[in-house]
Amino acid sequence: MSENSAPKMRPYGRQLFICQHGDCAPPEEALKLQGVVRENLGVLRKLRNPERVKCTLSDCLGVCRGGPIVAVYPDGVWYHHVTPELMERIVQEHLGEGRPLDEHIFHRLYPAEQTPVYAPDLRGDAGSYDPESNSVRTATSETADSGYAPAPDGDDGENSAEVIDAEERRRAARRKKLKKGLVIVNTGEGKGKTTAALGVMTRAWGRDMRVGMIQFLKHEKARFGEIKAAEKMGVERIGVGDGWTWTSKDMDETEARARAGWAKAQEIIQAGELDILIMDEFTYPLHYGWLDTAEVLAWLSEHKPPMMHLIITGRYAPADLVAYADLVTEMRNIKHPFDTQGIRAQAGIEF
Ligand code: FES
Repeated sequence: MSENSAPKMRPYGRQLFICQHGDCAPPEEALKLQGVVRENLGVLRKLRNPERVKCTLSDCLGVCRGGPIVAVYPDGVWYHHVTPELMERIVQEHLGEGRPLDEHIFHRLYPAEQTPVYAPDLRGDAGSYDPESNSVRTATSETADSGYAPAPDGDDGENSAEVIDAEERRRAARRKKLKKGLVIVNTGEGKGKTTAALGVMTRAWGRDMRVGMIQFLKHEKARFGEIKAAEKMGVERIGVGDGWTWTSKDMDETEARARAGWAKAQEIIQAGELDILIMDEFTYPLHYGWLDTAEVLAWLSEHKPPMMHLIITGRYAPADLVAYADLVTEMRNIKHPFDTQGIRAQAGIEF
């Protein structure tokens, strides 16, 4: 093994700290509790068990009353007035079965529903430990085919299962090197929806990907900064709008332009010559009912090339579009210079 090789030893799944400093409770009580832990750990002491527990007598845990104080990591759970009987239950129910004893907990580092990722899950070796053979069927080996990670034995907590599931999905994706053309939606009342889409466009352009943009409401003759930039970058940009709905002098014309824009977008998508197409402000024709959302989504399901990314921007994204998309971000206004200081849109920042 070279000097810089990573250690091969499997770290502990959890660690118990028992305060023996002496202010919250007599130190001998801490020693007694440590004995109870040792007697009851059972398979949680086994070296090969990914859930094995380390019990440590600790210096002051910063509470200094109501002891003995016992903390469980990485759970971030603190127990008070821990008697030998309670210690036994903590080992069996909390550590063994994944059921913290809520009525004896006085402090949590995380809300109960946000159980932090547990060490075996993080490492990817959570699984069923077989004390008979002193071996473990790891999540990695169990999930190689099924893509499913079982919860540790006795863990029936919904949140914990979700954490494992999310982590396993990430591992499965890494294994399979999954790729697909995403449908991305930037919506919400806040600023930055189009800007974020253009950021992705710039990134993709930098990677020599073929990018294009179709703007549904902004006037076809608009000369915003992003349009000038797209032109300088040689990005195809098609404007089909006649302005904004609230300034439109002819709503029929606005609607007809949106429909024509969708026809143009269909043409571009079906041609499959782009890697990324931004459909700027496309949520509005859907929101105003100029286009039928269900029909649009059905068409996309059938015709969008699998590796082509679509980025749709605009407020009021319909719920069906949100459900259909792979990635949805909502921009939210926290503070705006116009609201607080009366500063209007500035070139290079807003347009
Ligand atoms: S002395 Fe035990 S927590 Fe402070």
